Amino acid sequence: MIVLIFVLLFTVCVATKIYFKLITGWCKSQTCLKGKTALVTGPTSGIGYHTALDFAKRGARVILGCLNQTEGEWTRSRIIGETGNENVEVKLIDLNSFDSIRAFAKEINDTEERLDILVNNAGVIGFGNRRTKDDCLYVMQVNYFGPFLLTHLLIELLKKSKGSRIVNVSSLVAATVYDLDLTKLNTYPGLDHKLYARSKFCVQLFTIELAKKLRSTDITTYSVHPGIVRTNLFENVYGLGKIIILLGLFFFKTSEEGAQTTIHCAVCKGIEKLSGEHFVDCNKVSPYKSTTNLELSRKLWKVTTEIVQLKSEEIRL
Ligand SMILES: NC(=O)c1ccc[n+]([C@@H]2O[C@H](COP(=O)([O-])OP(=O)(O)OC[C@H]3O[C@@H](n4cnc5c(N)ncnc54)[C@H](OP(=O)(O)O)[C@@H]3O)[C@@H](O)[C@H]2O)c1
Ligand SMILES: *[C@@H]1O[C@H](CO)[C@@H](O)[C@H](O)[C@H]1NC(C)=O
Ligand SMILES: *[C@@H]1O[C@H](CO)[C@@H](O)[C@H](O)[C@H]1NC(C)=O
Ligand SMILES: *[C@@H]1O[C@H](CO)[C@@H](O)[C@H](O)[C@H]1NC(C)=O
Repeated sequence: MIVLIFVLLFTVCVATKIYFKLITGWCKSQTCLKGKTALVTGPTSGIGYHTALDFAKRGARVILGCLNQTEGEWTRSRIIGETGNENVEVKLIDLNSFDSIRAFAKEINDTEERLDILVNNAGVIGFGNRRTKDDCLYVMQVNYFGPFLLTHLLIELLKKSKGSRIVNVSSLVAATVYDLDLTKLNTYPGLDHKLYARSKFCVQLFTIELAKKLRSTDITTYSVHPGIVRTNLFENVYGLGKIIILLGLFFFKTSEEGAQTTIHCAVCKGIEKLSGEHFVDCNKVSPYKSTTNLELSRKLWKVTTEIVQLKSEEIRL
């Protein structure tokens, strides 16, 4: 009996895994990125690494926006080793600090001639009520406020390059947020996964609003859910969440698979008319119901502008 149950369970698991492998989207675009510049935040591991690696393979100049110099240099040599493309640059950015983001953006803006692709990939989960020196919740700042500020500061450079794109790595968990209290963006909701979901929800509303504001330009923007991917992201998850993750690891995507939708949105030709949309497995999906509140995304935009202390002359949208 026990053997039978075991065999049955095993079969179900393998069948599920095969099913997941079959529905995994792969970017089939052959777009060459020679002469183009791409910036990826959080490229030292996981999804970000495979995104940066792919851009390097396509011949792009790749800027690695890293938190840690040592890890950045190590990532750079790995990418050069695998692709032979030496046009890979390490620049330091800590999304945890508005000053750091400003310094980073200034350097890019002053030294780079163009920027064709910006991938807001870096993200964190866990960390509870930890706050930054800018007095924001750590997870909100790294996942949402930071990319919001960075995107604004780089808009001009993106505008200079024809047909540039902004890709935000969001998450399906955004769909679990129903009410967003704009006066409590930086108030800890008591549970780490709720905070994470809130930050990703904001990213998605931001994308929608950004796409609207960019309509008069030829910059396009996309948000993606990479799937559930085996990465370091879950290092700071403890308790029940950790157990669920450990049990689920077998079913998770590899980082290379997880990077496909980001790559698709960054390079695939002909998707420009889908600017502002959400993508899963390299396909456009319907927006999560909760993210279709245009009034909310407009208000969130305004509140965020104040939180990141964006000056009026810096808003070039
Ligand atoms: N894995 C999943 O199942 C999943 C599902 C949905 C969405 N996502 C999203 O996918 C994105 C990539 O995550 P991943 O799974 O590839 O995780 P990961 O392997 O942990 O990569 C996260 C990257 O972000 C960087 N980072 C962390 N804090 C930072 C900060 N303050 N400033 C700058 N960079 C910072 C990390 O740098 P260090 O290594 O130096 O700390 C690392 O390079 C995230 O936005 C995540 O929310 C992942
Ligand atoms: C950077 O990464 C290296 C290698 O993982 C580690 O030894 C070092 O402590 C890190 N530096 C900081 C400032 O976190
Ligand atoms: C970026 O550089 C341009 C000049 O090339 C300058 O006009 C603009 O103010 C700079 N933007 C930022 C955010 O530094
Ligand atoms: C990407 O994120 C930035 C910052 O959070 C936001 O302004 C922009 O609207 C987002 N774009 C998409 C397509 O989600």
